[in-house]
Amino acid sequence: MKLLHLDSSILGENSASRAISAAIVSSLTKADPSITVTYRDLASDALPHLTTDVLGAPDGTPELAEFLASDIIVIGAGMYNFTIPSQLKAWIDRILIAGKTFRYTAEGPVGLAGDKKVYVGLARGGYYGEGAAGAAVEHAETYLRAVFGFIGIQDPTFILAEGIAIDAQTCENAVSSAVEQASTLSVSA
Ligand SMILES: Cc1cc2nc3c(=O)[nH]c(=O)nc-3n(C[C@H](O)[C@H](O)[C@H](O)COP(=O)(O)O)c2cc1C
Repeated sequence: MKLLHLDSSILGENSASRAISAAIVSSLTKADPSITVTYRDLASDALPHLTTDVLGAPDGTPELAEFLASDIIVIGAGMYNFTIPSQLKAWIDRILIAGKTFRYTAEGPVGLAGDKKVYVGLARGGYYGEGAAGAAVEHAETYLRAVFGFIGIQDPTFILAEGIAIDAQTCENAVSSAVEQASTLSVSA
């Protein structure tokens, strides 16, 4: 099986989502050592904004080919200004391609990438879960669920670290709890 590991945090070694995505990949590859991993750092090796040239490329983009060839996608993302980093959005803009990952029908859009499994390590500075004051402005997890649902991936697994910006202890507790959660994953989770 092929695993595509993407990080998008701008915070380098201080990134919470990078720690979580690395723990997810480590756990999955430990459970199945035959998994091969391709790593992309979308922050240090950023994709440009989408253009019509990129969108209209007759053979598609390398990012789309890499996504289509992958069985498992692991994403590290922090919440930036209530949503995902724009670096990750630039990747998504190359993945949601009509005729490749979804198609329009008279009955509505149909996802074509439902055979893949997606894991997301998501870090948020505050609290956005059900009942939290911030829940109404959570546009990172909800957005990614919509994106992957649209292309047929209905059950992405999210591992969250919240309260990262509250204080150092809260941050440390949230990240270690998320990393611990990641260590219990297996490919079928
Ligand atoms: C540019 C920027 C914007 C941020 N915007 C938000 C935000 O809207 N809501 C929030 O709860 N935290 C916000 N934060 C805090 C991050 O969600 C938090 O630091 C998280 O750990 C980021 O993930 P990372 O550590 O993997 O980069 C922001 C941080 C940065 C650097």
